[in-house]
Amino acid sequence: MNIAILGAGNVGSALARLWAGQGHTVTFGLKPGSNPRNPMPAGVSAAAIPDAVAAAAVVTLCVPWPAAEAAVRSAGPLAGKVLIDATNPLKDDLSGLELGTTTSAAEQVAAWAGRTRVVKAFNTIGAMLYGNADIAGMRADGFYCGDDADAKREVATLITDAGLDPIDVGPLRMARALEPMALLWIDLAVRQKRPLPFGFKLLRG
Ligand SMILES: NC(=O)c1ccc[n+]([C@@H]2O[C@H](COP(=O)([O-])OP(=O)(O)OC[C@H]3O[C@@H](n4cnc5c(N)ncnc54)[C@H](OP(=O)(O)O)[C@@H]3O)[C@@H](O)[C@H]2O)c1
Repeated sequence: MNIAILGAGNVGSALARLWAGQGHTVTFGLKPGSNPRNPMPAGVSAAAIPDAVAAAAVVTLCVPWPAAEAAVRSAGPLAGKVLIDATNPLKDDLSGLELGTTTSAAEQVAAWAGRTRVVKAFNTIGAMLYGNADIAGMRADGFYCGDDADAKREVATLITDAGLDPIDVGPLRMARALEPMALLWIDLAVRQKRPLPFGFKLLRG
């Protein structure tokens, strides 16, 4: 797949490395004057945001929540593309979420993006676990949700390619449940200092 990544930080760099390693064409979309925070992964290129997005079938949003609207609006036409929303609408002090319960960051992103098929994914565990999620004999799940079945099938492949077990949890409004899961993971890791690695697994009988 041809993938544009908006946000070349922890999440963007990890996904770029893993996806490029699986043979995808990956381009960071950089805002003017910005440089990737980490060394460019092998096989990954960079371009201005509208150019990276125009060439891509899949756009991945992995910027801090306060930058999300600007990043989406700078993307140019998104109609017909798949937009993966990996953001979490965290408060600055990580004590909670800026929005939730009756809406979600993913639904807000979809409203900004217009006629785009948004899929929430990659938000529930730390980016250091992408590609390193085999824990105690099990692989951590990568939960995802969205309203378009074809888009979700494509994203499921990309979740597998990032070393997680894809779990479809339903329509996009289920991001109202996935975003608080991120808060749980962050609180366990950052405030409670629970040793890594740990992730989430849906146990099924
Ligand atoms: N960190 C994790 O483990 C993790 C896991 C799951 C989900 N998330 C969520 O994923 C998102 C990204 O987290 P992160 O830790 O990867 O953040 P990060 O390391 O701070 O990186 C953010 C990246 O976004 C770029 N950026 C900022 N404004 C932008 C804009 N308008 N257009 C394009 N790029 C822009 C930054 O560029 P500059 O440096 O030039 O500003 C930087 O490359 C957040 O919403 C976070 O809650 C994080």
